[in-house]
Amino acid sequence: MGTAATPGTPNATTGPADSDLVRAALGREVRRTPVWFMRQAGRSLPEYRALRAGTAMLAACQDPDLVTEITLQPVRRHGVDAAILFSDIVLPLVVAGIDIDIKPGVGPVIAHPVRSVADVDALPDLEPEALGFLATAVSRLTAELGDTPLIGFAGAPFTLATYLIEGGPSKEHARTKAFMYAEPQAWERLLAKLSVSAAVFLRTQVDAGASAVQLFDSWAGVLSATDYATRVLPHSRAVFDGLGDRAAGVRDVPRVHFGVGTGELLPLIGDAGADVVGVDWRVPLDEAARRVGPGYSLQGNLDPAVLLADRETLDREVRRIVEQGRAARGHVINLGHGVLPDTDPGAITHVVELVHELTAR
Ligand code: CP3
Repeated sequence: MGTAATPGTPNATTGPADSDLVRAALGREVRRTPVWFMRQAGRSLPEYRALRAGTAMLAACQDPDLVTEITLQPVRRHGVDAAILFSDIVLPLVVAGIDIDIKPGVGPVIAHPVRSVADVDALPDLEPEALGFLATAVSRLTAELGDTPLIGFAGAPFTLATYLIEGGPSKEHARTKAFMYAEPQAWERLLAKLSVSAAVFLRTQVDAGASAVQLFDSWAGVLSATDYATRVLPHSRAVFDGLGDRAAGVRDVPRVHFGVGTGELLPLIGDAGADVVGVDWRVPLDEAARRVGPGYSLQGNLDPAVLLADRETLDREVRRIVEQGRAARGHVINLGHGVLPDTDPGAITHVVELVHELTAR
């Protein structure tokens, strides 16, 4: 039997499941190294600012028309190899009924922070039925995107706990750690609860057609490896496990696990059940490949600040990352953290073109 494609007929070698993003994530051969950007949809784009005008962030995230359009904007403009759903890590908490606002230039702010054991036990559960808007947005998007994969995402239990306990963004996450040490049982219950809602949020996106998922544990890098391994990692693993048993034949997609400042945690992070480990700019990719060990692809690791630098610096850094990424079994090019709001969108388009030119097989 020949395997040649019949023109116009979908077959096993087309569609988002065969995209370079999915192939790189699973360590398969790619046509070109895939590239996308965390926060590619957002304030760096004038078309985003125009569409968002007059709509609050959390309202926009629950409007399937806006979610679809905002998610597609960077795909059209930059030709990136993946779309990432326009949403936010706090959305499962908001939908569950927790009073949260996203303040422009600040981030998520919680009206009644979690400060006691009673506060943990009073947190509402996320009902999957409340996520109809999300399933609608994802299925519309996958229809519009064709062969371009959609990445679904959720916030990891630890990073969500930092917002709930601190009441908003913080640098040291001292209250969070103090709660973790002082109330170990309530901490376990809190993270277990957050892992269930993250899994429900991800499962909804996968069932509606997302081609990959990313778990954002942005602030895990503030933990020691021991605390991370014993008090946090098991709950992140529960999120990925909650997606269903791969062996049992549930619809499965590659899993990316990301955090900032996780150099010391890289040998552990894949253990949660990831196919791809996200790396920030602090650790070069060849060294990161050594730390994560075999069996994982890498994602990263351009410093977002380099997008604000001159073209010569930008090109040099992109070439370096392409080269160092060859040490991993698969490489998805991305930033080490999100696009900064004052980034020139032209610099992003330029990186996409350069990566494609440098890596075409
Ligand atoms: O990456 C994408 O393009 C998809 C959309 C996305 C958003 N937030 C949209 C957003 C994703 C993946 C997130 C995840 C997220 N949200 C994380 C994990 C990633 C990371 O950056 O570490 C975190 C920690 C949050 C919490 C959060 N929400 C912060 C820190 C902020 C920024 C506050 C600010 O205004 O500077 C938000 C708001 C937010 N989330 C915006 C966007 C586009 C800005 C809202 C606006 O346009 O007013």
